[in-house]
Amino acid sequence: MEIVNPLIRRSTLDNVKIIDFPKILDPRGNLSFLEENASVPFKIERTYWIYDVPGGEIRGSHAFKNNCELIVALSGSFDVCLNDGFSERKIPLNRSYYGLYVPEMLWRKLENFSTNSLALVLSSTVYDENDYIRDYDHFLTLKANKNGSNRSV
Ligand code: TYD
Repeated sequence: MEIVNPLIRRSTLDNVKIIDFPKILDPRGNLSFLEENASVPFKIERTYWIYDVPGGEIRGSHAFKNNCELIVALSGSFDVCLNDGFSERKIPLNRSYYGLYVPEMLWRKLENFSTNSLALVLSSTVYDENDYIRDYDHFLTLKANKNGSNRSV
C-alpha cells in the first residue's frame, strides 16, 4: 500500500514561486549564485541538468510524492507546465538569475526547449523511482480529485 503524507496533497499552484538569485552586474560578465539557506527553500540532496534536447521534445510529465525542485534556465529557454489537479499554469523560464520553485505533488512537464538550452534542477531528495507518479489518473486520485474533468499537461 502506498503511503503518502496527506499534507502533500495540498500543494497547489499557489505554492509555486519564482526565486530571484543575487545578481552581481559586472562589465566583465554578470554573476549569480545560490546558497542552500538563502535562496533554496530545501536541503539540496541532488542536482541534475537537462541538455541537448531535440526540438519539440518534452521532458517530465510526472509528479513527485516527496521531491521538491528548483528549476533554472541556465541557458536558453523552456516552459514549465504545472498542474495541481485543478488548474494548469505554464511558466516560461529564460533567465539564469531566477529559478522556479516547484513543491511536491504537482504534475509537471518541461517543453518548448530552445536550441542549446540548459535546465538545471536542484532537488530535495536523491533519485528514487518510487517517488515518481507517472500515471496522471493516479495523480488525480492522490490529489483527491476523481471527477476526471482535468486534462493532463
Ligand atoms: P526522468 O526523471 O524519468 O526523466 P523524464 O521525466 O524527463 O523522462 O529520468 C530519466 C532517466 O534518468 C530515468 O531512467 C532515471 C534516470 N535518472 C537518474 O538516474 N537520476 C536522476 O537524478 C534523474 C533525474 C534521472
